[in-house]
Amino acid sequence: MFYEPSKRNHGLSHDPFKAIIAPRPIGWISSISAQGEINLAPYSFFNGVSSDPPMVMFASEGRKDSITFVEETREFVCNLAVWELREPMNATSGSFPRGTNEMMEAGLIAAPSILVRPPRVESSPCALECKWLQTVLLNDINGEMIDRYVVFGQVVGIHLDEKFIKDGLLDTAAMRPIARAGYHEYFVSTPDTKFSMRRPTGGNK
Ligand SMILES: Cc1cc2nc3c(=O)[nH]c(=O)nc-3n(C[C@H](O)[C@H](O)[C@H](O)COP(=O)(O)O)c2cc1C
Repeated sequence: MFYEPSKRNHGLSHDPFKAIIAPRPIGWISSISAQGEINLAPYSFFNGVSSDPPMVMFASEGRKDSITFVEETREFVCNLAVWELREPMNATSGSFPRGTNEMMEAGLIAAPSILVRPPRVESSPCALECKWLQTVLLNDINGEMIDRYVVFGQVVGIHLDEKFIKDGLLDTAAMRPIARAGYHEYFVSTPDTKFSMRRPTGGNK
């Protein structure tokens, strides 16, 4: 089949777009407002965009609290969402009024960050402390502003739970990170779904 998203002529009960770009890593973003209010929310339009220096992005469909808080204080933390934390991760996606501390609402413990003010999720095995770089306000192909934003940050500090480091390598699958697909679907990375492949040019690890 072929369809044009602007015409929504896929004939399906649900838009398949997010089921195509999947599984997507989840940036579970903690941020703090100028008044010191703490926010935590998952963003699956999230990824790394550079490894050296390490940089990440997340995209917001509308101006949500995370982007507002990040722009107010220019810092954020990306916590790794893992299988054991799937329920609290989901709980933090609820629509709460500005100023609600979703970390507390979801029963999570906040651990202090080292180089930025927003706290990290203590029980998450990895957290990326980030300094805001820029927000790109997207225009569509007609040049219309569409209330879609991409936030870029540079990673200045990284927390790792050392129990997941084996022979000097971080064991991603052992952490069981979860990833978003379409509809209500998620994936979980596990050791049995992992495979290795070397680049033809012998790229680095
Ligand atoms: C797994 C998951 C991934 C999500 N990814 C995004 C995303 O990439 N962009 C977005 O705008 N909203 C996304 N959402 C919805 C936000 O988490 C939700 O709107 C939340 O209330 C935003 O919180 P905030 O206003 O505190 O930033 C996602 C929700 C879930 C459960």
